[in-house]
Amino acid sequence: MNAKDLQPIKQRYGIVGNCEALNHAIDTALQVAKTDLSVLITGESGVGKEIIPRLIHDNSLRRTRKYFAINCGSIPEGTIDSELFGHEKGAFTGAIGEHEGYFGSADGGTLFLDEVGELPLSTQARLLRVLENGEYIRVGSSEVRKTNVRVVAATNVNIQMAIRDGKFREDLFYRLNTIPIKMPPLRERGDDILLLFKKFAMEIAVKYQMPERISLSPEAEEVMKRYKWPGNVRQLKNITEQMSILMRDSRIVTPAVLSDYEIWPTIEENGGLVRVSQTSGGVHSYDSEREMLFQMINALHREVSDLKQQLSTMAPVAPTSVHVASNVPVADAEVVPVVSHAHLQQPIVSPPHVAPHADATPYAEEYVEESLSIEEQEKRLIIKALEKNRGRRKKAAEELHISERTLYRKIKEYGLEEM
Ligand SMILES: Nc1ncnc2c1ncn2[C@@H]1O[C@H](COP(=O)(O)OP(=O)(O)OP(=O)(O)O)[C@@H](O)[C@H]1O
Ligand SMILES: [Mg+2]
Repeated sequence: MNAKDLQPIKQRYGIVGNCEALNHAIDTALQVAKTDLSVLITGESGVGKEIIPRLIHDNSLRRTRKYFAINCGSIPEGTIDSELFGHEKGAFTGAIGEHEGYFGSADGGTLFLDEVGELPLSTQARLLRVLENGEYIRVGSSEVRKTNVRVVAATNVNIQMAIRDGKFREDLFYRLNTIPIKMPPLRERGDDILLLFKKFAMEIAVKYQMPERISLSPEAEEVMKRYKWPGNVRQLKNITEQMSILMRDSRIVTPAVLSDYEIWPTIEENGGLVRVSQTSGGVHSYDSEREMLFQMINALHREVSDLKQQLSTMAPVAPTSVHVASNVPVADAEVVPVVSHAHLQQPIVSPPHVAPHADATPYAEEYVEESLSIEEQEKRLIIKALEKNRGRRKKAAEELHISERTLYRKIKEYGLEEM
């Protein structure tokens, strides 16, 4: 299939990206869907492996039968055999009735075994048997049962290493890996990074009815493309959501903003990694002179913007409880003060390029209301991070990907000093 033919599939499953490796993965999935061959999806954490098995099932002849997605890593070792293969009544303490298990229930359908590398060795032996001849035995039974299940598995651990360490059966690996599908890491997807950013920024803007989504400056685009993205698409999604909620003064993401979220360019233009070493004190020391300069400029940017914010909170304030006059058209009202938010001294600036609203006044009111809900979101995020880290602000700031100083300022703004 050529790239254009994949478009409808991508649209249906909300898959964003056009890079060759991603297209190849989707194309392979579609090609093998009609067969009963086992598929093993590999790729780092957060690359989007979970999209593939559903796509395979929906495009297979089994599409009208059952589909189960099982996370092997989240089922306790003591119950995993019974979950997968079922058990007889009285097979173990607490087995008050019989249980069919996924391999029995999914007969004729598809099972997605996520994090298959986490399966205990004894379960791996049972899995190999059912993959080879469709036979399995319930826990506490001696009766051999038959099932016809197509297995799609996924893992983010290096299975070859697990085999070497004696944690994964080599024969099972070859059996599962009949068709391998590799999902590429985000750092290798070039412009797809920007497309994904746009998608997530748009989604969150729609979800919280923000009048404007965040967008990247040209310099920030370069940083995004040259960052290593250890958490892949999941990390990009989380960071885009956080920035969408926390950025209020401007909706343009600059390298300085990204550096607050610890996004630095770590990949050279030739694809190599910039070496980043850590000193014993935990302070970054950068081997690349260019990188160091970049860091210094970013740090400077942050200092200046923090200072600006501090100054603006010191300035004499116009009345804080301003009612938006009902006859002021939004286009003329560049600055919409926030109603009864004495602590929030920066007015929320109405974006000049917002599409003209048929009735400007309701829009203005709606805008104020929505802005409040964004603040609520921000406050909620901060409270959550503080609670989780039992008030340790350094930890909370790290988790929120903002500087400690910004966190202190926000704590003051929201009156959360007691936390
Ligand atoms: N190409 C893509 N387009 C849109 N969203 C994507 C894409 N790839 C991944 N995502 C989104 O990124 C998030 C992480 O993807 P997913 O849960 O599939 O990761 P994973 O590879 O299973 O990671 P893990 O190994 O940690 O389980 C999900 O919210 C998913 O919808
Ligand atoms: Mg997953």
